[in-house]
Amino acid sequence: MDMQSNIAEDNALTQPDPCCFVLFGATGDLAQRLVIPALYNLAASGLLPEPFALVGVARRDVSTEELRTRYYMGLREFATQTIHDHIARRLFEKLIAVSADVEDEGSFERLRDELQRHEDDWGTKGNRLFYLATPPAAFAPIANELGRLGLTQQKAGAWRRLVVEKPFGVDLGSAQELNAQLLQTLSEHQIYRIDHYLGKETVQNLLVLRFANGMFEPIWNREHIEHVEIRVDEALSVGRRGKFYDATGALRDMVPNHLFQLLSLVTMEPPSRFDAHTVRAAKAAVLSAIETQSPEQALRNSVRGQYTAGQAGEHQVPDYRDAEDVPRDSRTETFVALRLKIDNWRWAGVPFYLRTGKALACKRTEIAIKFRTAPLSMFQTMPVADLADNYLVIGIDPVERISLQFNAKVPGLSISIRGVQMDFCYRDYFRAEPKTGYETLLYDCMRGDNILFQRADSIEAGWRAVEPFLRAWRDAGTDGLMPYAAGGEGPDAAKELLARDGQHWREAG
Ligand code: BG6
Repeated sequence: MDMQSNIAEDNALTQPDPCCFVLFGATGDLAQRLVIPALYNLAASGLLPEPFALVGVARRDVSTEELRTRYYMGLREFATQTIHDHIARRLFEKLIAVSADVEDEGSFERLRDELQRHEDDWGTKGNRLFYLATPPAAFAPIANELGRLGLTQQKAGAWRRLVVEKPFGVDLGSAQELNAQLLQTLSEHQIYRIDHYLGKETVQNLLVLRFANGMFEPIWNREHIEHVEIRVDEALSVGRRGKFYDATGALRDMVPNHLFQLLSLVTMEPPSRFDAHTVRAAKAAVLSAIETQSPEQALRNSVRGQYTAGQAGEHQVPDYRDAEDVPRDSRTETFVALRLKIDNWRWAGVPFYLRTGKALACKRTEIAIKFRTAPLSMFQTMPVADLADNYLVIGIDPVERISLQFNAKVPGLSISIRGVQMDFCYRDYFRAEPKTGYETLLYDCMRGDNILFQRADSIEAGWRAVEPFLRAWRDAGTDGLMPYAAGGEGPDAAKELLARDGQHWREAG
């Protein structure tokens, strides 16, 4: 088939309503590395609202000039496409910097006044997007302050939305508290909880793969699927994020959010309509069907590891406990593997193996769906080992692809069978500009489409499902925390977790 371009489809998109984008944490890493480059990419594709205004809010004093310079430098470093000066200039002329801190009385009143003036100058009609690129401890206090001054109050013809980034709490209790605090000043439909995994093309494509094709749904169940593997292996070590990471660990950092997003898209029931309410309800329903494990089950069905020094590619990675800001006696897991079940008719009895970790052999993010073997082999004279497993693999990183693994006859006079692979690679098929993954998410926020954002009940269902592991590990202390060498495959116990079921993790390729 011919290569196709997605430019045409993008051209069919319309500009969102005029809006003022208020970026809290304006001098932080997230703003510079992801948010601003994504706004630039939107501007470059003509998809920023017109009129548009940008307010960078920082706790410390920073001038508009300084912030502009910082963002120019950020674009040079983190841009995913060639930067055109005139586009950047046009974007940054709409920027002002304002200092405001919840601890500093009166500063939010100043912010309100500056915001009002800036909106009037640019004619953004009172539509506001508050983006909190701040540490999570600041989410509720900022939302409260905005609420106190009526800044989040929607008016006729003027919307108000708030965007927050993970982590949404550190356990079920704190997630419920955060949700309750945000809901004091905002309605659920005004809150956009970002999970950057939902900005990835292949992740969004899961919905299309499953529900725009008739051929997968009939076999998408316990009758035909033997197990599902969801893997997010990272080659990177914890680097300089020790302070955050050691308080968080692999499970909290990745599982209730990114891995469960993938899990819910693979396992949800078919929604009857492609709208935010229906799709998000289906995702929340399947997450709340994840089996609750007893403490014994949780220990038996989980593996946690911590990396030790090792060679990862060309890099010598030091022991996790020698990383900056990590205590020498840290018990934090840098690797986790889980075996989960989903208690519903579609999935009863099907194991879901999830794994993620730092300092592993390579970056590999994929979902592998293993189908049951044929009920009867007519090739009984062949050695069974010759029959390859049937997998549908959805690759997310480093290559966005979908591949089907099946058995084929090797050409020749005798019947000899070999596993082969049929590959669809995004990069080869669609000529898409590289993106940060945030463009779709920011664009959708500005359009008021929250289909790709997480609802409070999904977040809470995710935490509810991982709580048994957190509790069991806390009680077990360091017992069961397995060392693994950086640059390797993770602890051997992760292999045993599947071997117990007569299974193995899918080989790369
Ligand atoms: C972040 C985690 O949310 O996701 C990081 O905090 C992790 O620890 C990152 O490295 C992984 O994202 P991606 O898109 O590189 O798979």
